[in-house]
Amino acid sequence: MNIQERLSAIAKINLLHTATPLVKLNNISEYLGREIYIKRDDMTPLAMGGNKLRKLEFIIADALQKKAKVLVTAGAIQSNHVRQTAAIAAMYGLECVALLENPLQSGNSLFLNNGNKLLTDLFNTRCYFCEELSDPNEQMKALIESLGLENAYVVPVGGSNALGSLGYVSCALEIAQQKPKDIDFAAVIVASGSAGTHAGLAIGLQVVLPQTPVIGVTVSRTVEQQQPKVEKLQNEISELLNLADFPNVQLWDQYFSPAYGAPNSKGQQAIELLAQKEGILLDPVYTGKAMAGLIDNVLKETIEGSQPLLFIHTGGSPALFAYPEINVASI
Ligand SMILES: Cc1ncc(COP(=O)(O)O)c(C=O)c1O
Repeated sequence: MNIQERLSAIAKINLLHTATPLVKLNNISEYLGREIYIKRDDMTPLAMGGNKLRKLEFIIADALQKKAKVLVTAGAIQSNHVRQTAAIAAMYGLECVALLENPLQSGNSLFLNNGNKLLTDLFNTRCYFCEELSDPNEQMKALIESLGLENAYVVPVGGSNALGSLGYVSCALEIAQQKPKDIDFAAVIVASGSAGTHAGLAIGLQVVLPQTPVIGVTVSRTVEQQQPKVEKLQNEISELLNLADFPNVQLWDQYFSPAYGAPNSKGQQAIELLAQKEGILLDPVYTGKAMAGLIDNVLKETIEGSQPLLFIHTGGSPALFAYPEINVASI
C-alpha cells in the first residue's frame, strides 16, 4: 500500500474540497534575494481559515463515528484551534465546550473579548476558564465530569494527536502534487506549537519529497522542550500509517521570546513586511514569529543551497484584532 492508500483507509470527512493555493511571493523574493513560496492554509474554508481544518477532517469523522454530542477542547483565550473546533461543532449540530487559559494574564479587553474569542462566542461555545492548562487532558476530563456531559468527545489541544496530524501528512502529498516540476524546495518552514502540523508534514514529506526537510519555528518552547513532542507525534503517526522510519526533527527556537502569545519586534516586522509587500495577513502568535525565523535565516544565509523555500501559512489573522500593542509602522 502506498501512503495515499494508507491515508484513505482512515475515516475522514472532506471539508477542504480543494487544494489551498501554493504560490510564489514575488515581492518578498525580490526583497530577500531568495525565492520564497507560500502554502496558503490560512485560506482553508472554515471560519476565517487556518491549519486546524485539515486535522478536524479526521477528528470530526472519528467523533461522529463515536456518536459524540459535545466536542470538548482547550487552548488560550485567543486560540485559533478553539475557534475552528467551535465552528465545526456548529456545522455538525454538536455542542462545544472550551477550557481556556490566559497565558499572559492579560486584562486587556480586546484580548479578552475580540479576535478569536469573539468568533468562539459567536459559535455559541460554552467557555470555562482556568489559571493554566498544566495538564489539559486531565483538566478536560475533570470538566466533563463536573458538568456531567454525556457523549463528550475530547479534541486535544491544537488537534495534535496522531489522528489529527494525518491532516498534515495529507497536506504534504498536496504540496508534492502542486509544486512546480522544476523546483525542489531547500526547506519547508512552519510554526511548531502543539506540533501536529510539523510532525505530520515531516512524515508526509519524507515519503513524497525526501530531499526536503521541514524546519519548525517554535512558538512556546526551547528546542530541548519541543523536540521530544515532535518526535513522539512522529512515532505515533508512523505507527498509525504503518511506516518504518521517521525524519530528524529540525527546530529554530530563537523567535518566540519573550513568551507564548507575547508579540515581539521581529514578529511584528514580519507581519508588516508581508502585509505591505504582499497583502498577506500573518499573526503575532504563530506565523509572524515563524516568518521572522525564515527572514532572519535567509538574511544570515544559514539555509544551504540556493533553491526556493516554502513557508506554510497556518492562519491566525483573527488574533490581529486582539493584540492592541501591534502598532503599524512603515518599513
Ligand atoms: C495560526 C497557527 N499557526 C500554527 C499553529 C501551530 O500548529 P501546531 O499546534 O500543529 O503545531 C497554530 C496552533 O494553534 C495556529 O493557530
